[in-house]
Amino acid sequence: MNFFTFANPTELIFGKDSVQKLKDKAQSFGKNVLLVYGGGSVKRNGLYDQIVGILKEADKTIHELSGVEPNPRLSTVHKGIQICKDEHIDFILAVGGGSVIDCTKAIAVGAKFDGEIWDVITRKAVPTGALKFGTVLTLAATGSEMNAGSVITNWETNEKLGWGSKFSYPTFSILDPQNTFTVPRDQTVYGSVDIMSHVLESYFHHGTNTKIQDRFCEGILKTVIETAPIAVENLDNYEARETLLYSGTMALNGILSMGVQGDWATHNIEHAVSAVSDIPHGGGLAIIFPHWMEYVMSENVDRFGQFAERVFGIEQGTKSKEEWALEGIKALRSFWNSIGAPSKLSEYGITEDQLEEMSAKTVKYGPFGYFKKLDQEDALKILKAAL
Ligand code: NZQ
Ligand code: ZN
Repeated sequence: MNFFTFANPTELIFGKDSVQKLKDKAQSFGKNVLLVYGGGSVKRNGLYDQIVGILKEADKTIHELSGVEPNPRLSTVHKGIQICKDEHIDFILAVGGGSVIDCTKAIAVGAKFDGEIWDVITRKAVPTGALKFGTVLTLAATGSEMNAGSVITNWETNEKLGWGSKFSYPTFSILDPQNTFTVPRDQTVYGSVDIMSHVLESYFHHGTNTKIQDRFCEGILKTVIETAPIAVENLDNYEARETLLYSGTMALNGILSMGVQGDWATHNIEHAVSAVSDIPHGGGLAIIFPHWMEYVMSENVDRFGQFAERVFGIEQGTKSKEEWALEGIKALRSFWNSIGAPSKLSEYGITEDQLEEMSAKTVKYGPFGYFKKLDQEDALKILKAAL
């Protein structure tokens, strides 16, 4: 294990009807509240009315930023920052999935930053603080509800970049599985892939004596494999939604990466793909991850054998280590396909002539990935295999 310290300041409020806890939480923040939400799902399922009711009862003045896009845009972040400055916002409440929360993180930091927020996102400037914000999560996927990460797309430069700071943890996050009943089938699939991908990013490392971390990861992977098909078939199955919601938070709140350095190359490649072609994050991951695995497995084939055996129950038997590893990767791809995830970039209309531009974007900050360092040529090979 590597040396590590761990702290996560987000208060997690989890369970049936937990949105009622917003009443208590509202006592702890100021009067001017910016409510941030997406394209309307929260209005259709009644959550918006419920939250506005609670905030009004608490005598808050509500300002709104609606229409946050999936793959949230810098232009929307700018709008939110302007509202915070003009209306003297005291607190931001994000109600939605990862996109709404990520956008809120950039607004919160931008509202306290004397300059252009894109400079913070591109690591040219250091954030100086943030408005406090909380979240009501509506989709199990990113873990953004309990981490400091945020991913923003700038369509002027065709860049989709992850960033984070010590100021961008939510103060609290409210997770009620019932609020995820209306997540459509395709987004349920993408969310499940994203959760598993976060675990996989942490799982493939070169650390030693990581028995606890390994089994935490394998436990979450097996749980999502058991649960996602149930949620996909029965969108309002409470227990399945509850399990996915908890899995999503645990997959990327820092617990799995204690003492290890995860890889994160696949996320970097997916973000580059989404920066050129606006595809769902989980859909891109389902396509790219198995190809990344095949490309890098020789770095530590035993680890891939462990994955095949412990996650999918595939024993080595008479197989070579390579065959064993490949069977595990095949099982992962088949599982994702079985729940409805795509397996080729061309399914999203992506064409070969776009791959060069995508691969160039993967190396904005130089070679990437910790399990195996990759350069632009490697990224291009993986993308070509994934086409
Ligand atoms: O906009 P609305 O109308 O709300 O609809 C959304 C959106 O169309 C819908 N949705 C969300 N909750 C719903 C619902 N529909 C019905 N009922 C509900 N309860 O789902 C669609 C997708 O929402 P989005 O927030 O985009 O999905 P997700 O949570 O998967 O977030 C994806 C974004 O997060 C980034 C991704 O790159 C992508 O931009 N990521 C953020 C991370 C982080 N902050 O730690 C890590 C991840 O790896 C990821 O990169
Ligand atoms: Zn992800």
